[in-house]
Amino acid sequence: MKKWLLVFSIIAFSIGCDRPKGFTLKKITSYHAPAPEWEVENSMSQRELASLIGSKCHYLGSGNHTYAFVSDDGEIVIKFFKQKQMRTKTWADSLSIPAKRIFYPTGKIDRRMKERQDSFSSYKLAFEKLPEETGILYLHLNKTDNLNLSLTLIDQNGATLEISLDEMEFLIQKKATLVFQHLKNLYKKGQSKEAEKAIISLFEIVASRSQKGIYDKDLQFFKNFGFVNKQAIEIDIGEFRTNQDPNPTYEELKILSYQIRDFLKMHAPKHLSEVESKIAEQIEQYK
Ligand SMILES: Nc1ncnc2c1ncn2[C@@H]1O[C@H](COP(=O)(O)OP(=O)(O)O)[C@@H](O)[C@H]1O
Ligand SMILES: [Mg+2]
Repeated sequence: MKKWLLVFSIIAFSIGCDRPKGFTLKKITSYHAPAPEWEVENSMSQRELASLIGSKCHYLGSGNHTYAFVSDDGEIVIKFFKQKQMRTKTWADSLSIPAKRIFYPTGKIDRRMKERQDSFSSYKLAFEKLPEETGILYLHLNKTDNLNLSLTLIDQNGATLEISLDEMEFLIQKKATLVFQHLKNLYKKGQSKEAEKAIISLFEIVASRSQKGIYDKDLQFFKNFGFVNKQAIEIDIGEFRTNQDPNPTYEELKILSYQIRDFLKMHAPKHLSEVESKIAEQIEQYK
């Protein structure tokens, strides 16, 4: 028994070692068939889309759900979805049902289907209800055959890769400067009034989203928000849900205010009380 366990561990370890780290095409390749549920009305023509993306995009970063690439002109970000947590087709599909159950218990497939359902519903909510608040410009959740656009991706190692956009599930969003960087820069340059306006803009977009009946399960202002020029946007749009809480706006703004306070204490302590009173005015109206 021990011997088999050892053999199994060695095989599992070598498979693990062989798996490439970071972005690969395989990790964003979906095997899901298009579904009516994920159709959206993109008003952009194929030609507009082509000029928006350009011909090359460079690796920018990743989170739990996406790999993000930035266009050559630095104006937009194209995000592809990590398939690992959404894959329902597996190598075990060809096994007999009892054997498959061992490697892929039904619960695992159900969880993955739910993950896809939740993420895609969130992207669709953002696209249909929150274009201003999220800077989303284009959404492609179903594979198609009429875009006829190819794109060169330059990955984290500088390697290039040609993809056909028809075959991918993706979204396009305005490129933002992350909150932390933007506010730090402003305070560093002594532009505290600009920083204050930027903070208010953050509160306004969170309030605006929440007033539309949508809340964010992953409200982290450092990582998931940014600024396009002076306007705040929520860049991570994968965890939106419809509101159930009786007073969600107030609760969300409170959470945001704690995070801003921690930031100010650390990076601009002499502006803390002034900004806090402005924030209090913003929050009060939703009490
Ligand atoms: N619109 C954007 N502008 C600038 N950077 C972005 C943008 N969208 C994503 N990024 C970068 O890519 C990372 C992952 O994107 P995010 O939308 O947070 O995906 P995930 O759902 O995987 O967390 C972000 O933390 C950020 O560094
Ligand atoms: Mg994120």
